[in-house]
Amino acid sequence: MTATTATTTESMTKGAELGYKTFTAGKFRFERDEYFAHIAFPGGRHMMPIDAFLRALMRDVAWGFFYGTVNFDAVLGTINHYGTVDLFIGLFNEGFKAAKRVYLETFEAKDLKKVFEEMLADWTNEGFDPFAAPDETGNAYGPKHGSNLKAIKRERIVSKRMVGLPGDLPYRTDAQGQPQNRQFKDVNKDVPEVHAEPGFESEVHAFNMFDYVSRSDVTWNPSVVSNVKDSQICATTEEYILPIFHGNDRVEWFIQICDEIVWDIEDGATGRPRAKVIMKAGDVAAMPADIRHKGYSPKRSILIVWENNDSTLPQRYSSGELTPYPVEF
Ligand code: PHB
Ligand code: FE
Repeated sequence: MTATTATTTESMTKGAELGYKTFTAGKFRFERDEYFAHIAFPGGRHMMPIDAFLRALMRDVAWGFFYGTVNFDAVLGTINHYGTVDLFIGLFNEGFKAAKRVYLETFEAKDLKKVFEEMLADWTNEGFDPFAAPDETGNAYGPKHGSNLKAIKRERIVSKRMVGLPGDLPYRTDAQGQPQNRQFKDVNKDVPEVHAEPGFESEVHAFNMFDYVSRSDVTWNPSVVSNVKDSQICATTEEYILPIFHGNDRVEWFIQICDEIVWDIEDGATGRPRAKVIMKAGDVAAMPADIRHKGYSPKRSILIVWENNDSTLPQRYSSGELTPYPVEF
């Protein structure tokens, strides 16, 4: 038997015949066919189911490569250096490292983002929404048919003051066509009572955060709801599986505010399993800076993700100046 490896020049798929463009970034070459994304790199090739690939790609693009590492699976991923970005094969995989098959290239973040955006746009067919729960979207398979730019170019809505205050965004309601998600029918819709002093009616406001977030039509997409200095509180609705294994470069806090998520925690460098964390409503967890995690939400749930945006942190964790966990018990 002879071992074969794809080079970056020969085609791996019938992607062109199926209507899909091929993309390159440095010596990486990306092709898609009916069911798979194919990734060729010097010395080897890799495959991922196309739906899983597009869901991961969607997050990497929308989050500007996020904090630290976005592992698309146990082999392929990106590391954000906040200006440049590494695209790697096998870097956090013991087998690839032992076999000396790790491959990595560094890009200007804006250049790789452009390739990723174009790939996402070309490879996402009509009817498939990479941000939607699997039960709320069509599938990603088959020859190229149409596109879904509306879904992949979604922008987070930015409020100027506070949602619902005069001059800012209207509060989401059923009447505006933003109903509570089918799995959040149990979420309380009570409106808080506000008793403002006369003259302060346009300054004082409150809304029901559970009701507000329960109208989100995307999954696994933290959106900033409060930004105070480096403290970023991000709410998100979760259903099915987080499409990436996130290897953070800092400690990250999770607050489960309804229902339940099960987290697989693995060692960030090797991928060895470390813990299974079951978070029920009200649970709070600090995810260490040296792990990677993937969450499973059997029923749609609401999670608060708390990130520290201090740009000195990655270096202070990687140098060992800070312990990878926040508290010594
Ligand atoms: C995470 O990797 O910490 C993460 C990403 C997306 C989410 C929730 C958590 O929706
Ligand atoms: Fe994370």
